[in-house]
Amino acid sequence: MSQGNVCIHGEWSSRTAFILAATGSAVGLGNIWRFPYITGENGGGAFVLVYLLCVFLIGLPVMIAEILLGRQGKRSPINTMRTLAQQYKTSQIWQIIGWSGVLAGFLILSYYSVIAGWALAYIQLMATTLSNIPEHAVAVEVVEQTFSQLTGDPIQLIIWHTLFILGTMMMVVGGVQGSLERAVRTIMPALLLLLLILFGYALSTEAFLEGVAFMFSPDFDKALTSKSLLDALGQAFFTLSLGMGAIMIYGAYLPRHAPIGETTVVIVISDTMVAILAGLIIFPIVFSSGLDASDGPGLAFLTLPIAFIQMPFGIFFGVLFFVLLSLAAWSSAISIIEPVIAWMVEQGIPRLVATIIAGLGSWLIGLLTVFSFNYWSEFYPLAAWSIQLNWFEILEYLTFNIMLPLGGLGIAVFVAWIIPHAARTDELDTNPRSILYNVWLFLLRYMTPIGVLLVFLNSIGVFS
Ligand code: PHE
Repeated sequence: MSQGNVCIHGEWSSRTAFILAATGSAVGLGNIWRFPYITGENGGGAFVLVYLLCVFLIGLPVMIAEILLGRQGKRSPINTMRTLAQQYKTSQIWQIIGWSGVLAGFLILSYYSVIAGWALAYIQLMATTLSNIPEHAVAVEVVEQTFSQLTGDPIQLIIWHTLFILGTMMMVVGGVQGSLERAVRTIMPALLLLLLILFGYALSTEAFLEGVAFMFSPDFDKALTSKSLLDALGQAFFTLSLGMGAIMIYGAYLPRHAPIGETTVVIVISDTMVAILAGLIIFPIVFSSGLDASDGPGLAFLTLPIAFIQMPFGIFFGVLFFVLLSLAAWSSAISIIEPVIAWMVEQGIPRLVATIIAGLGSWLIGLLTVFSFNYWSEFYPLAAWSIQLNWFEILEYLTFNIMLPLGGLGIAVFVAWIIPHAARTDELDTNPRSILYNVWLFLLRYMTPIGVLLVFLNSIGVFS
């Protein structure tokens, strides 16, 4: 299926193009919407510390492994795992990594699109409702009202969700390389610039130090439940787009001689900086405006508009910010669904048809999330097993906390234990005695499997 050394689906034009695309995949709602809210729910400091450990000790090594597999297999995750299992004469059971990635892709895109739809809606809201606030004193109230009106109205949510999915389909249909490379080059720096402007605002609020303390002074007594550990692990995988084949398929498009290790470090550091910056912006606003850090999935959409309303040229910056956030969400969404599409294309389905099937599937499942914020917010489908989660929360839990960490575990074990030494050192272009290589291999062999397993066992109550 692959022609010589080049992936049938095409290649990135350069290493920089890959860095941009992979950063585009990593930086998205996970950093700006999810990281602050999950940190808030888990009590701050101690959670952030565990999260950072998960990112650097587990996420980074797994990302190297995932890119490595992609570049060796050069096809969709399902077929990459099938070919590599054959090549290394091991069980076809490893294909499961690819299959679970495809399923995770559908499920993740389904709710990712609904939340990204909020960002789209806020472009309009910033320019209308939120730009006409008579007095700053009522800003918090109006912002809260605006958010609950939006999420309480399924029709609006469906409209924005539909627009987001359609946009995603338009971007992937031509293949991710062309349009993506160009787009990401401007989106990412612009987003960073706007975050820095917002950071300037956060610095000027009286609660800035309180926000910093919330994020960085760990209070282990109250914060670290077994659920927090699992949340931190799941978030680390999600924010780095790991464990479901997204980074694997991007690795498949990576030219042969691009160095994987350094490239990965750049991506991981950029992604982490954006998340931390988002937290440093959002928490000071939370504390200075009397909101609650554990306000849940609405947190970014409640705090950021407050900043925009109060700062000079805020409406302009606000509109621009939500435009950029939507674009950042798009550059992640296309990587979420690309493994699914690439696999269908390999089965002989035309790319256009594959795109329609994938888009429509995620759109339909997305309705479950749409209704979880209004009609079904208190409908718990698994109540019979005493699980009090609505549809959105079930999908989130299943993908973040179960599928991504298990996918990552599979990738780590396959690369660290199954494939021969030479396959790793050749692909990484390294000497088997190099220190960095051995640190990486150690982390992948022991740290990832043991870390993931301990967090899992802990979360099902084995140690309590
Ligand atoms: N990393 C993306 C974000 O932070 C989401 C994502 C998850 C993308 C899984 C691809 C795969 O928003």
